[in-house]
Amino acid sequence: MQITRHVTDDIIWVGCNDRRLALFENLFPIPRGVSYNSYLILDEKTVLMDTVDSAASRQFLENVDYALQGRALDYLVVQHMEPDHCGTIVEVMQRYPEAKVVGSVKALQMIGQFYDASAFDAGERMVAVKEGETLCAGAHTLHFAMAPMVHWPEVMVTYDEKDKVLFAADAFGTFGALNGKLFNDEVDFEGEWLADARRYYTNIVGKYGMQVQTLLKKAAALDIRMICPLHGPVWRSDLGWFIGKYDKWSRYEAEDKAVVIIYGSIYGHTENAADALASRLTEKGVQDVKMYDVSQTHVSELIAEIFRCSHIVLACSTYNGGIYPPMADLLEDMKALSVQNKTVALMENGTWAAASGRLISAKLEEMKNMTVLENRISIRSALQNGRETELDAFAQQIAEAM
Ligand code: FEO
Repeated sequence: MQITRHVTDDIIWVGCNDRRLALFENLFPIPRGVSYNSYLILDEKTVLMDTVDSAASRQFLENVDYALQGRALDYLVVQHMEPDHCGTIVEVMQRYPEAKVVGSVKALQMIGQFYDASAFDAGERMVAVKEGETLCAGAHTLHFAMAPMVHWPEVMVTYDEKDKVLFAADAFGTFGALNGKLFNDEVDFEGEWLADARRYYTNIVGKYGMQVQTLLKKAAALDIRMICPLHGPVWRSDLGWFIGKYDKWSRYEAEDKAVVIIYGSIYGHTENAADALASRLTEKGVQDVKMYDVSQTHVSELIAEIFRCSHIVLACSTYNGGIYPPMADLLEDMKALSVQNKTVALMENGTWAAASGRLISAKLEEMKNMTVLENRISIRSALQNGRETELDAFAQQIAEAM
């Protein structure tokens, strides 16, 4: 059966939910699933905004057929060529022979890279658009704005002048299947969705804060009533709240005065020290303290928490004279995703030559504007009773830095 919902009188959501995919990009766990959003504009001309992952093509094509009500498709706008959205382009173009593909020059090039373009006479059916160009569908005039590296080079977003809708590509997207609820005001976004939205942004778009800032500046010049992203709920209320989150994330500003303690512990002794620190911090009035085992928590969750929190404690065993491997992986990911502007405190452990503190400190120096607190806890095997004063001073410096 078709599954569609009206976004406005003549814009229809024709996307799909995917609850079978375990790892998004074969990398990120998505226990809540994901939606691939696509929108059909019914006007004098019919315009389809993006397609879906090939895994969801059957449902998608049924939705599009139903929403078209027997009409031809005139345009397929391709805003982003990552296969979770371009995966059904060939099928759409074969099924609707009058349709033309509209996209940036780079997007159209990528169609030829991913697919055998002769499958739908691609050369004659492609319309390249540049910054500021428009497509008139009748009452709806679509304005195209390039958004390179949010988070691929070919990305563009589209503003519908009539309904004041921003089709935002991956921007403002989130993990999570829609479960019948299309709009942000139909869900408890802050309670049930924000953590996944943050995890999606920080891990997938997080590296490109500067480019997101450029896009936000373009968006600020528009009268936007609704944001239609390619994943997750459509925003029709509280737009400023979510745009504010994007602004913070892309400026690499912490959302919360909070401490995230991430520990790498082989036999539990480093974990014990981290636990003792968490108690001290709580006693000193730090309310938002979270602890994560770097071996047990997916790195995408750690990255999201690192973006959220103002202060980080890395507590780490020394392993083969180096950094405990899962902590080393986390540090590489932090650097790759441009983590910056954090205050970090270090606890190191080593039975014969504790080196992880010095090595982690060197890694942090490769990132921008990371302040490493001077006072470091160094443990030989286990933190013994008798070091309470030292631990207290360590906790105090973090509390004072907040
Ligand atoms: Fe949702 Fe970058 O693809």
